[in-house]
Amino acid sequence: MSGHESLIEALRVLEIQALEAVSAATDPDALEALRIHFLGRKEGQISGILRGLGSLSPQERPAVGAEANRVKERVQGALEERKAALEAEGGEGTADFDLSLPGSVGWRGGRHPVTQVIDELWSIFRSMGFTRARGPEVETDWYNFVALNTPLDHPAVDEADTLYLKNGLLLRTHTSPVQIRTMETHEPPIRIIAPGMVYRRDTPDSSHTPGFLQLEGLVVDEGITFIDFKATLAEFARRFWGPGTQVRFRPSFFPFTEPSAEVDVKRVITRPDGTTEETDWVEIMGAGMVDPAVLDNVGYDSERYTGFAFGMGPARIAALKYGIRDIRCFFENDIRFLNQFAQP
Ligand code: DAH
Repeated sequence: MSGHESLIEALRVLEIQALEAVSAATDPDALEALRIHFLGRKEGQISGILRGLGSLSPQERPAVGAEANRVKERVQGALEERKAALEAEGGEGTADFDLSLPGSVGWRGGRHPVTQVIDELWSIFRSMGFTRARGPEVETDWYNFVALNTPLDHPAVDEADTLYLKNGLLLRTHTSPVQIRTMETHEPPIRIIAPGMVYRRDTPDSSHTPGFLQLEGLVVDEGITFIDFKATLAEFARRFWGPGTQVRFRPSFFPFTEPSAEVDVKRVITRPDGTTEETDWVEIMGAGMVDPAVLDNVGYDSERYTGFAFGMGPARIAALKYGIRDIRCFFENDIRFLNQFAQP
């Protein structure tokens, strides 16, 4: 056998050895060791033959060179195939992975914290027999003010700092117009809550935004008394804030209720260490007995029917509940803020 023939023979032997070893390898480290043994630049057996081509005669060189390259590519291909197969199998192929690393958590949507509070408010009132009502955000003077016993020269009209549209319509400054719209189209008994956006010409700060949510409530029937009013709202407050909650009705004024009250709660909160603490009194809503003039405005018999109404700001309630000092957080939709309210 001439020199170049024995080299080609040696290459074929190496090829068989390499392919056998590769298919028997069970982990990436073993594959790497085989790669170095056969194809490594310095000590690799196949590379060694390629390096030795220089000592062959120019006639012998091409045949040995071509064979060496063929074997090299074949072994390289086998190594890659085996590596992919081990990875796909999982098994020993996972030696490269650190199983103690945290997994990558996918994005998942969630309800906005204020929406969560509205849903909670709704489920409490629904269990007390309320249904949901809604009205338009673009309103007329009649529904937003006049029918609610608020003449246009009344100081409350100015106070509201109404956003008027070009056609004389306005953006509702509260959800109370839904009281009128509901009574116009329904006979008593009425028991509704109406959540929705309202708008005022406010400069945004930590407790004001020019648009915000309100939740209106209205109950009208024969024989509704101040007791029903107080008991319903106290029951609501205890269901929402917890049984230890104290409720206080502070005399106030609204044009559409008589008498009117502001409702405050004093909550019991549990600290992270499990001990409890009483909070200060905080206002949670405006409320009152529906003024008979309002009932007259919708054609109800105010001798026969009485009722009570209330209005609260779900974002304020959410801020209280979660201890948020700047209400603008609810509008900025910073995903780092919102993620804290994601539910499992
Ligand atoms: N509409 C009032 C406001 O925007 C809130 C309110 C007070 C609603 C008393 C009521 C109520 O229904 O009875 O500030």
